[in-house]
Amino acid sequence: MSDRTFPAEHSPLADHSLPAEQGFTADEIDTSKPHPARMYDYYLGGWDNYEIDREAADEVIRVHPQVRDSARANRAFMQRAVRDAAHAGIRQFLDLGTGIPTSPNTHEVAREEMPDARVVYADNDPIVATHAGARLTNAPGTGFVLGDVRAPKTLLADPAVRSLIDFAQPVAVLLVAVLHFVRDDEDPAGVVAALADALPAGSRLILSHATGEPYEEYAEGRTDEVARDGVLNVYKNATATLNLRDRAAVERLFGPFRLQEPGVVRVPLWRPDGPVPTAEEINNTIFYGGVGIKG
Ligand SMILES: C[S@@+](CC[C@H](N)C(=O)[O-])C[C@H]1O[C@@H](n2cnc3c(N)ncnc32)[C@H](O)[C@@H]1O
Repeated sequence: MSDRTFPAEHSPLADHSLPAEQGFTADEIDTSKPHPARMYDYYLGGWDNYEIDREAADEVIRVHPQVRDSARANRAFMQRAVRDAAHAGIRQFLDLGTGIPTSPNTHEVAREEMPDARVVYADNDPIVATHAGARLTNAPGTGFVLGDVRAPKTLLADPAVRSLIDFAQPVAVLLVAVLHFVRDDEDPAGVVAALADALPAGSRLILSHATGEPYEEYAEGRTDEVARDGVLNVYKNATATLNLRDRAAVERLFGPFRLQEPGVVRVPLWRPDGPVPTAEEINNTIFYGGVGIKG
């Protein structure tokens, strides 16, 4: 199944009358700064972004043209890891930092294996919330929280989470391409630890994270420093800064979750379901990814 974004006429950006029951208004969608969710949507070919996002994203593409391949590889990793979790019997998913919906979304992938899977999505960007009703929570057994991963206990206490997730049963938590928006002083490891504390044994962490580290087996494909610094500069002016981490730091983020084979790897190398990824595919990917299980 390939990723699909949504045409402009279906975009809630075309209609700024947001549902009052979601507790925010269109005014809360900040168009004065580029937003990571809308920039990522643009990398994936989506329409749910503004001029200010496109300008910033175009600058990232200029200094680092592979960013679009990276975003697609990251979505493919998310889909394989969710499918794997559902195949292993997990029927509950918490997708934190879910992004502007891009089909197939987590509930669609999980339900291919586990038709009664329940999924709660969360994101701190109101633009994501505007889409949730039409594209994420239009199916029974799904929910959305406008919330912040840096406040995991508040997120976990949200009524949408409490009504759909049974914390006596294993849960797969997705932190896919989101913790690089959490600075060291905001304690990303503490976020994972707080989530782990709330989950029973057998629960999973599905995590991916951007890096500026060169890919060790293909020296010619390294993310060079000029590109890395150019990308970091663009995100300095966005609503959340980018915090690139190396593989060892990403491994540490798993905390109490025991890493599963093949460990933390460039996302195309995580249990590929097709031909072994080419060196070019790996070189083009700035994301590390892995899956851990709570013992
Ligand atoms: C690069 S997108 C990734 C989307 C999706 N998880 C994926 O990998 O395809 C990052 C998302 O994380 C969200 N995000 C960033 N910081 C966040 C925070 N502190 N709390 C919740 N969501 C956050 C952004 O709004 C954006 O939607």
